[in-house]
Amino acid sequence: MARILLGITGGIAAYKACELVRLLVRAGHEVLPLPTPGAERFVAAETFYALARIAPPADPYPHLGRADALVIAPLTANTLAKLAHGLADNVLTEAALAHRGPLVVAPAMNTRMWEHPATQANVDVLRDRGAIVVEPGVGELAEGEVGAGRMAEPAEIATIVAQALVGLEGSALEARPPEDSVQSGVSGALVGKHVLVTAGGTREPLDSVRFLGNRSSGRMGVALAAEARRRGAKVTLLAANLTVDPPDGVQIVNTPTAADVERETHVRSAAADVVVMAAAVADYRPVEPWAAKRPKDSVTWKVVLEPTADVLAGLGARERNGQVLVGFGAETGAAGLDRKRAMLHDKNLDLVVYNDVSREGTGFDADENEVVLITRAGERAVPRAPKPLIAAAVLDEVERLLEQSKQEDRSGSA
Ligand SMILES: Cc1cc2nc3c(=O)[nH]c(=O)nc-3n(C[C@H](O)[C@H](O)[C@H](O)COP(=O)(O)O)c2cc1C
Repeated sequence: MARILLGITGGIAAYKACELVRLLVRAGHEVLPLPTPGAERFVAAETFYALARIAPPADPYPHLGRADALVIAPLTANTLAKLAHGLADNVLTEAALAHRGPLVVAPAMNTRMWEHPATQANVDVLRDRGAIVVEPGVGELAEGEVGAGRMAEPAEIATIVAQALVGLEGSALEARPPEDSVQSGVSGALVGKHVLVTAGGTREPLDSVRFLGNRSSGRMGVALAAEARRRGAKVTLLAANLTVDPPDGVQIVNTPTAADVERETHVRSAAADVVVMAAAVADYRPVEPWAAKRPKDSVTWKVVLEPTADVLAGLGARERNGQVLVGFGAETGAAGLDRKRAMLHDKNLDLVVYNDVSREGTGFDADENEVVLITRAGERAVPRAPKPLIAAAVLDEVERLLEQSKQEDRSGSA
């Protein structure tokens, strides 16, 4: 299907690249492994060639040939720095300079290395050049520390590579609806559309181990992503500390804090036909989180909180060209519905999904929800139902809004 250069660099997670090779080969791709000398200290190059079902290349320049995508997993801090600065001192960094097309990287390293300003600046350089960064997850690292830096799972990386290939313009892999929607004859306004969904609840650090969070599980956003995908959309899910499994076949970007949601939404929303902001994003964050764990003592710990950016208002204020913008509003009490009615106009949204989180068994961290859909055309109450059914009702409304904007476009250009 596609020709993929797979760079593997010198971290413990190199062993996970074996699974990634298998997944890419199983998906029908031709994979050329490009392990760095550092990677070969962990896994022999022959293992990668065997899994890719190819002989070690005899040609000295196979890495400079045409490729549909360059994937680097794991990406060390060292190679990341080289990529950011354009160094070319091994086959992988040479390939990276010669490659034209999607670059997908999955960094993996010790938490302090990942959080270092030099590393973060290098990641930003790559992002600004259009690289797709599969964020490392939080968990136990090889050296026993716990924190951000663990390489994303191979299945997640393979899914993102598939999405990057679908998004290629002007090639044999040109954008098309997901195959299962073609096979099952799915039709509707969401087929082939880009849908960006935020899900979960953000956590704002108080120190290196404590945070201010909320009770959102991410079930509602995950149900929306799954339903959009089922309706034939290409879905990107910005995942904030999900406590449920994300659906298959969607691109997942980890966004643990409000700042991450803001940054990734900003970068990715311009290409989206529909943006659904279902995550519970913190309204306030500690002004000065401690870098390390604050030791326990008898002194009162006063924390000053500052407001976070209003991402939804920022999206609503932009030129949208037919993009449908959906906001979720969790409120408690009778005045909540009025506040959400006002939000539709104040933030220039197309649809507000109001839910009263004071009710027992619905809303945050529950399997069911009960919502009111508020649009400029009117309001519709959706009675208590499992979240997948609520997601279907929300996306019915989104499809109606997409059709409406298509018709307005037609009558505008007639
Ligand atoms: C046991 C061990 C584990 C390592 N794990 C990582 C890692 O996970 N991430 C990282 O950035 N560097 C890691 N390093 C350091 C890299 O191997 C080192 O920076 C090397 O120069 C990377 O070369 P490369 O980027 O060309 O593959 C590790 C080193 C050792 C000895």
